[in-house]
Amino acid sequence: MAKIIDGKAVSKAIKDEVKQKVEELQAKGITVTLAVIQVGNNQASTVYVNNKKKACEYTGIRSLAYELPEETTQEELLALVEELNTKEDVNGILVQLPLPSHMDEDAVIRTIFPQKDVDGFHPQSVGALCIGQPGFVSCTPAGIIELLKRSDIEIAGKECVVIGRSNIVGKPMGILLLRENGTVTIAHSRTQDLKAVAKRADILVVAVGKAKMITSEYVKPGAAVIDVGMDRDENNKLCGDVDFEDVSQVAGAITPVPGGVGPMTIAMLMHNCLESVKLQGK
Ligand code: GUN
Repeated sequence: MAKIIDGKAVSKAIKDEVKQKVEELQAKGITVTLAVIQVGNNQASTVYVNNKKKACEYTGIRSLAYELPEETTQEELLALVEELNTKEDVNGILVQLPLPSHMDEDAVIRTIFPQKDVDGFHPQSVGALCIGQPGFVSCTPAGIIELLKRSDIEIAGKECVVIGRSNIVGKPMGILLLRENGTVTIAHSRTQDLKAVAKRADILVVAVGKAKMITSEYVKPGAAVIDVGMDRDENNKLCGDVDFEDVSQVAGAITPVPGGVGPMTIAMLMHNCLESVKLQGK
């Protein structure tokens, strides 16, 4: 049976480290501050935003909540982002996605100052990541690297297969695994013989958004399997992209859903808020 990678415990350890550093900054008169903007009331977004606020409370980071109505215009949202960009006492800015369909997400992300882009979505942050320069790293893939390191799973020299090529998870995940000297393959919906490709992996990261798609047939015995999915099964129960019951029979280590990658994303957001203070030269 696979070892279960406890994302909840690791995320708590990270949040405790952040809390300590937030206190040290507070003693120097710096209040680490995150502005969180939500437009409309997408239910899933409200849950995520509430979890982020809770993590801020836990770590002592001040959170400023901006809850804007669905009919807010793009110009109004951009004006708010620009105002927060110039505020000395705001370190991080997060615009919860998805935005309502009348808005241009890319334009909004581009407006956030890269020094305040704690989500790591700005093209400058992504570019910096690609060429190994300082900048914010997207929280989910950063959290997965941290989870692997703190679980003593070696990355250097290993076959790493990422299934999924999104800008938020798959692509930055591939770059980060490469930075750690992994041998990286990014597979996707057009990959031929996905089972054979996935089965090469010592580290398999799955971010496809399909409930329980990855069965033991995709997994090399002893592999570490990281499940980024947040899906519902046939009984409407929360599950991942990996068939946990089946895959845990062959994998060496596996993340559960919930309690695996999810809590790490928020822990890394807290970490990025601390980094924002440094990037702003404070
Ligand atoms: N929507 C889903 N995940 C995320 C995230 O990590 N950040 C933001 N801003 N929106 C999201």
